[in-house]
Amino acid sequence: MKKGLFSKLVATFAAIIAVSFIMTAAFLSYWFESYYFEQRKGQLITESQFIGTAAVQYLEGNISSDKINETLTYIGNYLSADIWLIDNYGYAYAVSDIDHKKILYTQVLTKELEDLRLGHTIEKRGIYGDIFKVPVHTFDIPIFSRGVFKGAIMMHTSVSELKGTLIRVYEIIWISALFAIVISCIVIYYFSQKIIVKPLAQINYVADKISKGEVDKRVSIKSKDEIGVLAESFNSMADSLEEVEKNRREFISNVSHEIRSPITSIKGFIGGILDGVIPKEKENYYLSIAYEETQRLTRLVNDLLDLSAIEAGQFKLRIEEIDINEIIRLCVIKFEQKIKEKNLKVDVLMQDDNLYVAADRDRINQVVTNLVDNAIKYVKKDGNVKICTKSKGDKALISVFNDGPTIPENDLKYIWNRFYKGDKSRTSKISTGLGLSIVRSILTQLGEDIWIENKESQGVMFTFTLKRI
Ligand SMILES: Nc1ncnc2c1ncn2[C@@H]1O[C@H](COP(=O)(O)OP(=O)(O)OP(=O)(O)O)[C@@H](O)[C@H]1O
Ligand SMILES: [Mg+2]
Repeated sequence: MKKGLFSKLVATFAAIIAVSFIMTAAFLSYWFESYYFEQRKGQLITESQFIGTAAVQYLEGNISSDKINETLTYIGNYLSADIWLIDNYGYAYAVSDIDHKKILYTQVLTKELEDLRLGHTIEKRGIYGDIFKVPVHTFDIPIFSRGVFKGAIMMHTSVSELKGTLIRVYEIIWISALFAIVISCIVIYYFSQKIIVKPLAQINYVADKISKGEVDKRVSIKSKDEIGVLAESFNSMADSLEEVEKNRREFISNVSHEIRSPITSIKGFIGGILDGVIPKEKENYYLSIAYEETQRLTRLVNDLLDLSAIEAGQFKLRIEEIDINEIIRLCVIKFEQKIKEKNLKVDVLMQDDNLYVAADRDRINQVVTNLVDNAIKYVKKDGNVKICTKSKGDKALISVFNDGPTIPENDLKYIWNRFYKGDKSRTSKISTGLGLSIVRSILTQLGEDIWIENKESQGVMFTFTLKRI
């Protein structure tokens, strides 16, 4: 991953930067070349005025041929140019460089004369006859005296000499561009390593560790950008994974613990009977205890299966119109025996005879049975149990109250967990700690709510909602 992403990033940015710098450098070079030639033309035109005046004076016989040649030589040196003077028929009559004497009184301009006569300047580049062996830049400027065309000034500059200056500027432009590209690439390399590649590599490393079971590993990226947010989300995902893993371990240890004690006693009793350690007349008694233990095991397994089926959403809810008051009445009757045994006072308070709600009959029966079972189980002997139903808006509120000791505030959020039991010693043989988890899972699946309140006057009240019809 590291190599792929990193090289793609650096290559993309480097390409973008290289293209932009190359374009800028090319544009600058082009612009500078035109600027430079414009400047040169300006300089030649300025000097040409002086030459033009001297040429007219010469043509009118006011100065000698030596004088005009001398002037041309002087200005030619100054401009680093070879200057020729041409008459109105295109014949050369003065040159700045003695070596070019052979062109004197030959016709060097023919077809260009038309344009010059109209007052236009002419610019050319290339090899010029057999005089210049290297390419030259030639600039022809017409001479007028009192409006009459008097010939032209031809100024030749070696292109390589002109380019000499330009090449130095090009060098500066292109070396700067290259330098900027290299520096930018280094900066991109450094920052993409620091900002993206290293953090991603760290996340990848930790993800790998977590997938191998080290769920306590976390990434330590504190940046405030998207990578920082990703790292935060990653860590919270790792937290959830750790929590799930912890729950899974706890669940397995709880299930094993719950199963081990009945199996141990069943094994002990049956072993005792088989070995003859238990006397014949006591056999029935111990067998009935073993039978109870198998019932407890069956109930545990059924509860677990129920719970996992509800949580997995495998129980298809059959929503129908049910009378919650009727369900409560039947449930209380079911517990009559236990109520009598503990001599409890059970009050059932209902607004009306019937309260119709939309729910799954069997599941709601399970909810009510679990809550009433808890109330009867955890209330003291001769205690009070109160069951109320009432309607509030489009909801029915059902509460089951029993007096007796309250649940410690710290434990309130745990009572819904699987295998949570108030009796920490786990000695209770009648409970598994699954009842309330089943209750909450059913109500959650129905989209309803349940909560618990410790009553000040000593007691615990569970209230849940159902949708009224
Ligand atoms: N009405 C209540 N009064 C006091 N404590 C309660 C009451 N209902 C539940 N609790 C506490 O919450 C714990 C969890 O209850 P839950 O119904 O989930 O499990 P259980 O009753 O122990 O076992 P099970 O219902 O599976 O037989 C109980 O062990 C008990 O400590
Ligand atoms: Mg219970």
